Amino acid sequence: MPDSALEAATRQIRAATADPALRPIVHTFFDEATFTATHVAYDPATRATAVIDSVLDYDAASGRTNSASAEAIVAYVREHKLKVEWQLETHAHADHLSAAPWLQEQLGGKLAIGADITRVQEVFGKIFNAGTAFARDGSQFDRLFHDGETFSLGNIPAIALHVPGHTPADMAFIIGDAAFIGDTLFMPDYGTARADFPGGDARRLYRSIRRLLSLPDETRLFLCHDYKAPGRDTFAWETTVGAEREHNVHVHEGVSEDDFVNMRTSRDKTLDLPHLIMPSVQVNMRGGHMPEPEDNGVSYIKIPINRL
Ligand SMILES: [Fe+2]
Repeated sequence: MPDSALEAATRQIRAATADPALRPIVHTFFDEATFTATHVAYDPATRATAVIDSVLDYDAASGRTNSASAEAIVAYVREHKLKVEWQLETHAHADHLSAAPWLQEQLGGKLAIGADITRVQEVFGKIFNAGTAFARDGSQFDRLFHDGETFSLGNIPAIALHVPGHTPADMAFIIGDAAFIGDTLFMPDYGTARADFPGGDARRLYRSIRRLLSLPDETRLFLCHDYKAPGRDTFAWETTVGAEREHNVHVHEGVSEDDFVNMRTSRDKTLDLPHLIMPSVQVNMRGGHMPEPEDNGVSYIKIPINRL
């Protein structure tokens, strides 16, 4: 069956490679506390901007949030006179709290995520016993993207691809020739995202990655995380499809689906859960909003015992 979304993405990337006016400028903020890369992508002609995977600082010991990382993005946007049209989330993150609602109040932009966020809400709504007040229909977001749906950043066309595996709802947002691929591939020397959270699936992750790797070699890839790698001492978050196909330590050309699934599954068994998984999931499944305050006006994060 032809993959029409992938074909449309390929045409878009080829057009952008041929015409600099169709390529976004990308500026990245890296949060060393959670190893998260937040990308600010904009059309230089119209200043139309997307903020992708923003971080709200959170101190687990005190339960306090802090907007220092998000304020740096606001300052950048104002300094460069950018017009934020989108707050994009590649998925419901399990390792940091999203700053998207906070940024939306400061800068505007529609909050968007993959349509299968409803499955993530179903799974984690149960795990955290979130009750009937927690809507599991994605209504916390302004737009839910399906595979192959298009949007634009000023004059630059963009398309969303569904790339599940790390979670059921992961999306890659491709703007011009720049693909923001969330937790799928990491830098070639580090490998790939884990697939063992509730709703994750190593086999689906492999198929999503093969799809991304069939985009043109020159496609710019912007990653959601970096953890350095043996022999590399600085953080990195940008690579290309060509470099990943040739060098990715987990999924370079020639690695079969079964080999990948075996590797990924046994490696995931050795990984600790992210330090901030409890607050992150409870906040991010609500589109970055805190749980409903209790009758004393305070929001609480729950910890299910012996469940995760
Ligand atoms: Fe993630």
